[in-house]
Amino acid sequence: MSQKTRFVALVAASALALSMGACTSTPAAPGSAPASSGSAALKDCNVGIAMPTRSLERWINDGEQLQKKLKDAGCTVDLQYADNKVDQQISQIQNQIAGGSKILVIAAIDGTALGPVLQEAAKQSAKVIAYDRLINGTPNVDYYATFDNYKVGQLQGNFLKDQLKLDSAKDPINFEPFAGSPDDNNAKFFFSGAWDVLLPYVQKGTLKVISGKSPKSNDEWASIGIQSWLSDKSQAEMDNRLSSFYTGGKKVQAVLSPNDSLAIGIEASLKAAGYKVGTDWPLITGQDGDKANVKAILAGEQSMTVWKDTRKLGERVFTMIQQISKGEKVEVNDEKSYNNGVKVVPSYLLEPEVVVKDTVQSKLIDSGFLKASDVGL
Ligand code: BGC
Repeated sequence: MSQKTRFVALVAASALALSMGACTSTPAAPGSAPASSGSAALKDCNVGIAMPTRSLERWINDGEQLQKKLKDAGCTVDLQYADNKVDQQISQIQNQIAGGSKILVIAAIDGTALGPVLQEAAKQSAKVIAYDRLINGTPNVDYYATFDNYKVGQLQGNFLKDQLKLDSAKDPINFEPFAGSPDDNNAKFFFSGAWDVLLPYVQKGTLKVISGKSPKSNDEWASIGIQSWLSDKSQAEMDNRLSSFYTGGKKVQAVLSPNDSLAIGIEASLKAAGYKVGTDWPLITGQDGDKANVKAILAGEQSMTVWKDTRKLGERVFTMIQQISKGEKVEVNDEKSYNNGVKVVPSYLLEPEVVVKDTVQSKLIDSGFLKASDVGL
């Protein structure tokens, strides 16, 4: 936008704001389209976006979608990816603060490592939105926008419970649980949601964790966490469990995978061990709706994914930024669930949903989240 058009847009925006008088914001239901604060160019909108890694499809989409929306609204945007390296993310945020960012949108790599840099942000009066992952141990996080992380796990747990008919199962079912990265605050919520459903069946013996890698309670989840959510690490772990414990013809029948990147590694391991779809392939859960996993769902190698429409998260954060820039009240829908150790962070939770083979077309393709050609349809 040229200086002149920017000026014209600003004048038009101010005139509109004057003619509308004071705005009030009405809370929207989780998952619904955000109440728009108007699309006129935003004043003083200088945003730093810090994303964890380009190695996962979802973060690329998350960052690029939000950047585009903000640029279209006339904001200055600095989008950075940190290759899953905590120090790199900290220095990127430092640069953003030094470069004049007044709003920081951060998907933390390590949710406990950002206290000092956010102290600097507070000195510059920058507002901080925790994106998808909560930032812990600091008062300097203003809002949190995410999907209901506990519900993600519940959907995975209930999926396994229903598919395996755990309430009426006669024979014990061989089952292996995995958890996400120990430094990601979300991983604990995903695991708790699933474990609250599944642990009673492990305790009753309906589910048998042959490897013994079965946390006794939700608090022990990190003992089976896979650092940095890496597919090659989940593959190595599954290789290890299969070769050490699944001997003498024993077969694993169900796997709790908290997300798609871990599911990819687990599926590669099963293939290498000779498991075949249609004969002895186990049930496997996932999360994100990544292209490779949707292909795996269509091929029968993955049973489901918990889909989080990241476009909705982008819209929500964009609305928060508009509200901050305009000095309006920022709309949230949860003020109790996310205590970061210093305070309860006002949050906006969106609804995740299950996608299985039969709903790939109606949910992922028809909504435009993926193209049919992305997944070989
Ligand atoms: C996100 C998931 C993602 C995982 C790995 C989590 O914090 O909520 O959607 O699969 O990180 O990047």
